[in-house]
Amino acid sequence: MMIPTLHADFDLQRYHTLACPSVAEYAVTVTERSHLSTALAWAKQRALPVQVIGEGSNLVPRDVVPGLTVINRLSGVRVLKQTADQVELRVAGGVSWHWLVLFCSAQHWYGLENLALIPGTVGAAPVQNIGAYGVELCDVFVSLDAVNIRSGEQHSFSAEDCQFGYRQSVFKGVEEGAWIITAVTLRLSRRFAPNLTYGPLADLNPASSAELIEHVIAVRQSKLPDPALIPNAGSFFTNPIIPIAQARSLQQTYAAMPVYPTADGEFAKVAAGWLIEQAGLRGDYAADTGIGPYEKQALVLVNPQRVASSKVMARAQEIAQIVEDKFGISIVPEPRLFP
Ligand code: EPU
Repeated sequence: MMIPTLHADFDLQRYHTLACPSVAEYAVTVTERSHLSTALAWAKQRALPVQVIGEGSNLVPRDVVPGLTVINRLSGVRVLKQTADQVELRVAGGVSWHWLVLFCSAQHWYGLENLALIPGTVGAAPVQNIGAYGVELCDVFVSLDAVNIRSGEQHSFSAEDCQFGYRQSVFKGVEEGAWIITAVTLRLSRRFAPNLTYGPLADLNPASSAELIEHVIAVRQSKLPDPALIPNAGSFFTNPIIPIAQARSLQQTYAAMPVYPTADGEFAKVAAGWLIEQAGLRGDYAADTGIGPYEKQALVLVNPQRVASSKVMARAQEIAQIVEDKFGISIVPEPRLFP
């Protein structure tokens, strides 16, 4: 059985944005659906575990990644349906998310503008239901196709099957590690109706999707470090959701604390970046490893010296403990340990 791009002892350090040293026992770059079936069969014969990586922008890879790592580079965009108001697209899992945002804007297909410049692939987007500036993937999501890692069978997941939540889906829950997402179907609008609900976008009156995208890019670039220059995995913690009473009580002491009540009014999301900053940790880079909350956005942990994931996780734990001691709120990592 031939797999053209199978490598042993494959260096993953440049295949993820946090740049931790990491070696995959085996790796294969998949550009065609048939390669994927072949690769899965190959691993099954050898009883090897299999995991998938897109652009690696939300991962903390261990030093050694056993078994076969599939690098998803499936490509292509296909229009499934089009009406006067909407278009439905099937996009292959290996397509770069930001490229898709720009492509759709150029085609006058709207709805992805606020999600510009999010690193990663289309196939990774549903796993954590990517979101920014008031828009989440689930707002435009129709369905996805995935291949079961164990059986090799293909299955389609509806939005309901995916159980999307804030930075959450079934692929981070009970189905974690079980599927490779090969394609995602999105429904976009053919009329430009910008979502400007998020504070920093509220004063805009964009004439075009390109203008909105440009603004979102500028906002992101002003706060978020470019992983090509300073290794990072985006927000390192999710914003914790706590009982509303606890949030209100903290606000008595910390009047400026950002609090976003949930729809049912029982809970509130609080800004982990704010908590980390108030704990005095923004720009506090550890003397030995350089790891710390980025000086312009404390929710992002940077790894400038490209040190091992164990050190990144230890520093994250230290930060979480300091926040917990100060506010009684536990914050949990957002990127996934790989595998
Ligand atoms: N804040 C601080 N100090 C900081 C960082 C934030 O005080 O160092 C405060 C801000 O002033 C603001 C609040 O915290 O009042 C929220 O900050 P921001 O709007 O920058 O967003 P975030 O909650 O820190 C989330 C997402 C980002 C997304 C932005 C914009 C998560 C885990 N992160 O960050 O997503 O771009 O909102 O919508 O939900 C990612 O997931 O990797 C990511 C970058």
